Amino acid sequence: MAAVDPDPLARQMVGFKDFYQYLSPTRVISGRDLIGSAGFEFMKEGASRVFLVTDEVIRGTGLVERVEEGVRDGGLEVAGIYDQVPQDSSTEVVESCAAAAEDAGADSFLAVGGGSVMDTAKVADAVFTHGGTAREQEGFMLMPRDGDGMGRPLEVAPLACIPTTAGTGSEVSMAAVIKDHEEKVKLEIADFPLFPRLAILDPDATRTLPPAIAAATGMDAMTHAVESYVSTDWSPHQDARALQALRMIRDNLERAVETPEDEVARGNMLIAANMAISIALGSVHAMSHPAGAHFGVPHGVANAIHLPHVIRFNAEGGDDIADRYRDVAELLGVESGGSGADVGDALAGYVSGLVERIGLPLRLSQVGVPESGIPALVEGAMGDGTTLLNPREPSESDYEELYAKAL
Ligand SMILES: [Fe+2]
Repeated sequence: MAAVDPDPLARQMVGFKDFYQYLSPTRVISGRDLIGSAGFEFMKEGASRVFLVTDEVIRGTGLVERVEEGVRDGGLEVAGIYDQVPQDSSTEVVESCAAAAEDAGADSFLAVGGGSVMDTAKVADAVFTHGGTAREQEGFMLMPRDGDGMGRPLEVAPLACIPTTAGTGSEVSMAAVIKDHEEKVKLEIADFPLFPRLAILDPDATRTLPPAIAAATGMDAMTHAVESYVSTDWSPHQDARALQALRMIRDNLERAVETPEDEVARGNMLIAANMAISIALGSVHAMSHPAGAHFGVPHGVANAIHLPHVIRFNAEGGDDIADRYRDVAELLGVESGGSGADVGDALAGYVSGLVERIGLPLRLSQVGVPESGIPALVEGAMGDGTTLLNPREPSESDYEELYAKAL
């Protein structure tokens, strides 16, 4: 009997999935001059006494004052402002932010900032609403629920976000990452109530973004798009977002870094980052989380360094995976013929070239990671939840090799 051709639609990365879940409940508004409408829009989400969360750098640009005006213009009150969020937020910061909101008599949170500010506001909102410590919020789908814990998750206070970087996509994600200094780990927290109710994408909010941060956060967005497209947790819904995000990153990232006054490029990068975000990630994020926790490597920089190495590793993990990278390569205009290794090499080369052109480092040793740090990084990456979603299962020695190559 002749061998039957395997059904191409039954393959790992193209078939009909036995299960996936997709949700995107955040109302996104995008366009020009939206900061002035912050109050009008946030009122529709149930806010009245708004607590602003930001950092000192953003406050120094004058943006927060314009947001305050926008909140008041809509007839809402500004209950208070917390501007002490550091570049890498922590459990202590979250708790002091929640306490300050409580003292101010706030009923809602408005984050004006990058990933650290938005993640702080999310977890502070959970602590503010449900009590307890920041560490107690840790976990995936573990927030309080109706019906003895089996029903609908309990809402947290209304949360809106105005991202000031185009990268993390935290404004439409239910996940937050917070550093626990004592344990030297990054706590990952995700549940439905943490989806912000409103995201305001206004290119004016990224007007003063330094090019180096635009580059690093842009590479975070690119990493989200690539990793979610090849993740074992891929879905047709997320594929559509990832591919459109990649097109927009291809056309706008370098422009936004080289010409910071280019409002079109900045606006498009905000949208691209917003579309790229997913919690279905992989080994790039698994490697970058411990690099941030142990050596303070900024998240986007760590992703830019790790992405090419993980692409090469994964693309050799089978035809299905290589085909996914081939889609990405074609979309980016990279010659994508040949074996999985060839595709991986070509795409990794494109990414490294882009990283170099936008002025980011390509090696961990350039950002303060010593060779002696590799064992701790490997342990962190093996224990990171995103490792489970990587299309090719990495072993401890694979991670050792990947970090050594990235060093
Ligand atoms: Fe990320």
